[in-house]
Amino acid sequence: MKILILGATSAIAEAVARKIASQHGELFLVARNGQTLEMISQDLIVRGATRVGQAVGDLTFQEKYTEWFEAADHFMKGIDVVLIAHGTLGEQRELEKDPDLAFDIFNVNFISAALLSQAAANYFEKGRRGVIAVLGSVAGDRGRQSNYFYGSAKAGLDQFLEGLRNRMFLSGVSVVTIKPGFVSTPMTAHLRKNFLFANPEVIASGILKAIVKKRDIVYLPWFWKYIMCVIKMIPEFIFKRLKL
Ligand SMILES: NC(=O)c1ccc[n+]([C@@H]2O[C@H](COP(=O)([O-])OP(=O)(O)OC[C@H]3O[C@@H](n4cnc5c(N)ncnc54)[C@H](OP(=O)(O)O)[C@@H]3O)[C@@H](O)[C@H]2O)c1
Repeated sequence: MKILILGATSAIAEAVARKIASQHGELFLVARNGQTLEMISQDLIVRGATRVGQAVGDLTFQEKYTEWFEAADHFMKGIDVVLIAHGTLGEQRELEKDPDLAFDIFNVNFISAALLSQAAANYFEKGRRGVIAVLGSVAGDRGRQSNYFYGSAKAGLDQFLEGLRNRMFLSGVSVVTIKPGFVSTPMTAHLRKNFLFANPEVIASGILKAIVKKRDIVYLPWFWKYIMCVIKMIPEFIFKRLKL
């Protein structure tokens, strides 16, 4: 597999990359922390990756998107899969008071992820093949008082990907929306852990399966599909009274 990973220093993305490395895949990684990216690249080579290329940059810098796709295409002589994994949770109480911080949350979690998905679709459309896998979240399924900035950005991304999937269907390009529940990563380090938290390795296995099977939408672990189904059924007049 030849994979371009955007947001490659994310714990979930790194777990996916390790699995691909062990299958002797080729990887091109993009992230904004060059030092961490270099360490991850070295580690992937040791784990069996055939080749690992990299580019350093902030994923909200739209002017770099074409350059990264061209660099990945040139380095691996083609791309099979694009994985978009960057994201940031933010601090809900601070976001309520600071529109600049709130703008960044929308920019990172929705605008940049959507525009990178579009760039991937434009790249794959010519060849009439390819898989675009994007990290959404169960948080996008219902607006909650504890994280409605992050949640609404993921909800917007969810709908964007649905439309993109619809458009790309006849072109043979798959768009996979991945909706993890709680995962033990730096993003959730401040949260008290409970039995619902999964390890990144479990999520990575699910992501790879979904990519290979070209699934449309996948909840990870699987039981989140049923949890969110129940949560979505709660009538608004009850939901607004809950402290979630
Ligand atoms: N952890 C969970 O419970 C959970 C649940 C559902 C969905 N997700 C989603 O899964 C994805 C991966 O998250 P994770 O759990 O692996 O968290 P993580 O380890 O904290 O990774 C988040 C990554 O996003 C990167 N990032 C943020 N803003 C960026 C920007 N402007 N430019 C470039 N990179 C940027 C961070 O880079 P730096 O290291 O440089 O800051 C970091 O590598 C995210 O989309 C997240 O929303 C996570």
